Amino acid sequence: MKKIIALLLVAVLAVALVSCGGENADVVTMGTNAAFEPFEFIEGDEIVGIDAEIGATIAEKLGKDLKINDMEFESLLGALKTDKVDFVAAGMTANDERRKEVDFSDTYYTATQGIIVAEDSDIKGIDDILDKRVGAITGYTGEVICTETYKIKDMLTFKRGVDAVMELKNGKLDAVVIDLQPAKMFVDKNEGLKVIEDPSFEAEEYAIAIKKGNTELLEKVNEVIAELKETGKLDEIINKYQNK
Ligand code: ARG
Repeated sequence: MKKIIALLLVAVLAVALVSCGGENADVVTMGTNAAFEPFEFIEGDEIVGIDAEIGATIAEKLGKDLKINDMEFESLLGALKTDKVDFVAAGMTANDERRKEVDFSDTYYTATQGIIVAEDSDIKGIDDILDKRVGAITGYTGEVICTETYKIKDMLTFKRGVDAVMELKNGKLDAVVIDLQPAKMFVDKNEGLKVIEDPSFEAEEYAIAIKKGNTELLEKVNEVIAELKETGKLDEIINKYQNK
């Protein structure tokens, strides 16, 4: 009799443990790098922004809770591959280089690069900074464009946009190349700077990255993006953070 009770107890515990695991399965994890306002940034102790809202909509669609994992930008694709995160929403430009490693959803935002310079600078575009000291962010498309497309030699790279902007303010850099919307945010928040828009920068499309082969999630995410576009909700979200 005692043995049977003991066995029953073990069985009950096992079931309890399994259902705990089941609760974990009700969470979907988004990877991001929250140093990229208006797409993702930290407000109080929360990660907010355009991508955080898109992520929340994806979680809602899946009927799961959203967990946001803030990490270095360069670690994001690796985190996807090793299942540390389920999707990456990080103002990430969908390009061929990255498509070798991950799949991308339909795009949700068209961006381009911007150049931040001192307010009194006579730099007018990318051609004026080819021989200058230029700051960029490690692993961002801006860095790749400066070094590979424009062959800028005197580059300094930083972990976060804010670090590059500080060096620019201190006169250690002539320009910082970073996505246009974050560039505008930095200029709004820091005195003595301006943004140069140069039409020769190509358009970049932001998309959600998903582990290769996870078509089930990819389809769901594409449904969410389509719905956000059709209902006008995407524009609403973008305007809320972009024109703040
Ligand atoms: N769009 C650029 C890229 O894909 C920069 C993205 C940076 N995003 C971020 N959350 N820090 O490389």
